[in-house]
Amino acid sequence: MRPGRVGLGSPHHLSYTTRKLDSLPKWASWLEQKGVSVVGPFVRDNRVSIYLRDPDGVTVEITALNEGEASKRYLDESFGNLPSVNSITSGMKLTTFHHASPLTYDPETTAKFFDKFLGLTSMFTIPNPDQKGINILGIGSKERPGFLRYLAVPRPPEGYVGEGSIHHIAMVVEDDDAQQKILKRLNEVGIENSGIIDRFWFHSLYFRDPDGNLLEIATKNPGYAVDESPEKLGTTLVLPKWLEPRRVEIESALKLTDANNHGRWPPDYPNVHSPPESMPRQR
Ligand SMILES: [Fe+2]
Repeated sequence: MRPGRVGLGSPHHLSYTTRKLDSLPKWASWLEQKGVSVVGPFVRDNRVSIYLRDPDGVTVEITALNEGEASKRYLDESFGNLPSVNSITSGMKLTTFHHASPLTYDPETTAKFFDKFLGLTSMFTIPNPDQKGINILGIGSKERPGFLRYLAVPRPPEGYVGEGSIHHIAMVVEDDDAQQKILKRLNEVGIENSGIIDRFWFHSLYFRDPDGNLLEIATKNPGYAVDESPEKLGTTLVLPKWLEPRRVEIESALKLTDANNHGRWPPDYPNVHSPPESMPRQR
């Protein structure tokens, strides 16, 4: 694949939560040791974040709640003198997905879209501390405010989804009824969508937001425990029944992929630019 380009339809970064603030210097230490460069720390309202790229080049943020203890001095000291870390400890675990940051050139329309079609009414607009003149539009629910943080870029470039891109953003709904309601609203105004697709463990519905970012609504049901016990999840290659006849072919293709995947290590993509939540300058 060609390398992707961040822009409309090709989101900027993903963010994951780690529980404790002191996990961040540990992550920085661990990653730097492995040849992955890290940018940060950056104070983000009530959080502190570091940034890196995954092996394909996707920008990843690791964020922790700043419960008041992150004075500038604390950050300078803990990141100026990184702790030695020999393994990823349980305290460092990435516990939840925090947010995805796609781009929008018309935040008002985006906000209306999520309100009208997905019932996400919890919104906020804040200035982007990383780039003057650009706001961040937070969209979410009461329980999960701002799980989408749109960068409202006035003249955004067209994005291209390729290597190192975020292909789509999936959101979960409780059940088929909730999904059907969304499908009905989309169809009522003629918003192009995939219809309901049976993924065996869940049901999916795909469509694009007004800026061309691909979204998915997935149901919780039937759930991953429908064909194996929760304790065994992830231990064997499980296929939906319509792919079972191709098991031998799929297994050998996976083995071949693994064998040929020498990776580029340390990775040779550009480091995360700084400040990290800004658009690279247009030429
Ligand atoms: Fe972020």
